[in-house]
Amino acid sequence: MSSILPPSRLWWKEPIAKTEWLWIGIAFVWGMIMFVMMIYWHIYGKQNLSNEAYKTSPEMFAAKAEKFIAENTIRTETDMDIPVVKVPPGGDGYLIARLWNWYPILELEKGQEYKIHLSSMDYNHGFSLQPVNINIQVIPGYEHVVKMTPTSTGTFAIVCNEYCGIGHHTMLGRIYVK
Ligand code: CUA
Repeated sequence: MSSILPPSRLWWKEPIAKTEWLWIGIAFVWGMIMFVMMIYWHIYGKQNLSNEAYKTSPEMFAAKAEKFIAENTIRTETDMDIPVVKVPPGGDGYLIARLWNWYPILELEKGQEYKIHLSSMDYNHGFSLQPVNINIQVIPGYEHVVKMTPTSTGTFAIVCNEYCGIGHHTMLGRIYVK
């Protein structure tokens, strides 16, 4: 039989076999379990931050971030030439993602709650906080507001984990927790 001839049996007209029904059933039940788990993990999962997202534009977000930086900068990191900005405890901090850096460096205090606003100036970037492994998508046109309370002190690295072009591997940032 040649492959250019129509098949003699049309699979979509065949009755569904018992084992197929079984797999369809297992997949459906598993899908339902995972659906419930999404809600469960949102409340009880250790990595899932409670976050909100708002529509914005790169210009609007940059203006808010620049105002925040102008009012709260405490020094400039000489090795990176990036301002270090102290976020007021209980207040709002702004972090810009762009080709290919995270701007500015945020300084937080252990045990205080913060609202960190994230947005991108150009393409999709991935905020990955190491070594705690918190991951957030940073998307142009959207402002993500993430509530976080640092539980340990030190220097945390921000790694971009969405491929964003030739300089992707150099897109590193920092958060200091005192
Ligand atoms: Cu930004 Cu990869």
